[in-house]
Amino acid sequence: MTLQAHIIGTGSSTPKRILSNKDLESIVDTTDEWIMRRSGIKERRISSTERKESTTDLATQASLNAIEMAEISPENLDMIVVGTVTPDRQFPSAACMVQKALRADHAFAFDVSAGCSGFLYALTIVNNAIQCGMCKTALVVGVERLSSIINWRDRSTCVLLADGAGAVVVHSMPDQGGVLSTHLKSDGTLWNLLYSSYGNSYTPEILQCIDQKPFLLKMEGNRLFKRAIGCLSEIAREALQHNSLSSKEIDLVIPHQANIRIIQGLANNLRIPMEKVYTNIHKYGNTSSATIPIALDEANREGFLIKGAHVLLVSFGAGLTWAASVLRWSI
Ligand code: ACO
Repeated sequence: MTLQAHIIGTGSSTPKRILSNKDLESIVDTTDEWIMRRSGIKERRISSTERKESTTDLATQASLNAIEMAEISPENLDMIVVGTVTPDRQFPSAACMVQKALRADHAFAFDVSAGCSGFLYALTIVNNAIQCGMCKTALVVGVERLSSIINWRDRSTCVLLADGAGAVVVHSMPDQGGVLSTHLKSDGTLWNLLYSSYGNSYTPEILQCIDQKPFLLKMEGNRLFKRAIGCLSEIAREALQHNSLSSKEIDLVIPHQANIRIIQGLANNLRIPMEKVYTNIHKYGNTSSATIPIALDEANREGFLIKGAHVLLVSFGAGLTWAASVLRWSI
């Protein structure tokens, strides 16, 4: 009997505070018009630990929403994998903190660091664990507090990035469908297109941290932009071919939300109309590994996903990493 990984619940959680493009005009030399035209972002959510919006808090709330939809108890979880580059602490993992908060006593938990592809890398690990019988019910989370590592003086990055979390409950079932395939790629030679400049082993002197905030994010947006459309298109085509599906047979594409022009370029290359591409970048900006699970949850709750629908998930980010997955929706 072949076991398939089926998504049986989705959830998301975003911070309460909305930071609009207009607000950013008083922080850096930018305009609402530039940000909207160049990226498609209108506003984003920025977290506050005082309001209990740490990485763990956001991930836990998104997970509770997914667990509620799945109609399971946290005790039923036997695996928790969190995709993030902004855990609250370097260790223990965000996943272990979520396990504690949920009281998911029977699960084992760990993080995956794969930039914006973190959620799809995590989903791949869970899919494989389910197919080999290692686990039955798992939680996959994508969460980020990019506001904590943004350089708020750098207008080329601070207008794009934001905070949020999304989660799915994945369950092992013999029925055909669910996660049909996952595809992963990376290219470490291009690590320096997007990275955190300090931190971990690169912070040798404690005094340096006083003057230089650790973990400031640096990005070569223009070079990334050119790579992104090609990598996303290539891996999306690989995923379609693997499942003998044409682009016409895809009911909904949920891409990583980094820039509306990247998403339009991908849709154009795949010859998929934008009406079949889910976007919420105007509301949330780029929340890295959280963009896909947040969009998946919103698309699900808004009724865009019906049983049997073919869904293409596709991401690109720091590493470089890029990834895709095809789902046959089963709830
Ligand atoms: N407001 C006004 N002007 C700005 C701003 C701003 N916020 N930011 C940059 N500019 C200026 C630049 O200084 C430049 O001016 P110049 O021509 O006088 O030098 C001009 O606008 C054009 O800058 P570009 O960087 O060439 O603009 P581009 O059209 O490439 O858009 C952007 C920039 C939005 C960053 C785009 O390159 C992009 O989206 N890149 C990809 C991002 C991405 O995919 N990241 C990977 C995933 S993210 C992750 O993993 C966390």
